[in-house]
Amino acid sequence: MINTVWHNPSITKLQRAERKNQKPCVVWFTGLSGSGKSTLANELESRLYAMGYHTYLLDGDNVRHGLNSDLGFGEADRIENIRRIGEVSKLFVDAGLIVLSAFISPFRNDRGRVRSLMGADEFVEVFVDTPLSVCEARDPKGLYKKARRGEIKSFTGIDSPYEEPLNPEIHLVNDQSDAGGNVDILIDYLKKMGYIHD
Ligand code: ADX
Repeated sequence: MINTVWHNPSITKLQRAERKNQKPCVVWFTGLSGSGKSTLANELESRLYAMGYHTYLLDGDNVRHGLNSDLGFGEADRIENIRRIGEVSKLFVDAGLIVLSAFISPFRNDRGRVRSLMGADEFVEVFVDTPLSVCEARDPKGLYKKARRGEIKSFTGIDSPYEEPLNPEIHLVNDQSDAGGNVDILIDYLKKMGYIHD
């Protein structure tokens, strides 16, 4: 921040968004590993794409292969993970996009900090509420088994905490194998709040 000056570009966020005929926001999926965040975000993006909207999907596993490949799963690294994703989400919202972010983001404070980076109606928190027992039975990557055997330390829900959202915009119970109904709920919400139209 030292010796730098903020420049206001001539073209505004509003102009970029108007050209795309949408109201930009970040749809922030939070929940346990295996709760279905990535699946929901991916299906939502496909639906929005088919409807002609401009989106970008940020997903925990993928971002940890690139931008955040230097971060682990200790508390400080998870905080930094979410801080960076928050800043990246803000840039994409500024670009006029509907951003879908799928990260465990286990700490309430960190999610609150991302919310406060955005405009008042630009942060849509989606709590993907799937019981630990269901996530563990799904265990798509075999990580719960490893965590139970003690081969992975600080695994969310096992020996690292997950703080549930107190007031999410959307609370989805996602314990069925077909997530289609939940994607409908998300589409309806985005329409109702004017992010997209019929
Ligand atoms: S977060 O806690 O920092 O928000 P993030 O969403 O980026 O997590 O990454 C979670 C993914 O990393 C999980 O879906 C899982 O595949 C993998 N992972 C590896 N180690 C851990 C761990 N100790 N706790 C949780 N997830 C882990």
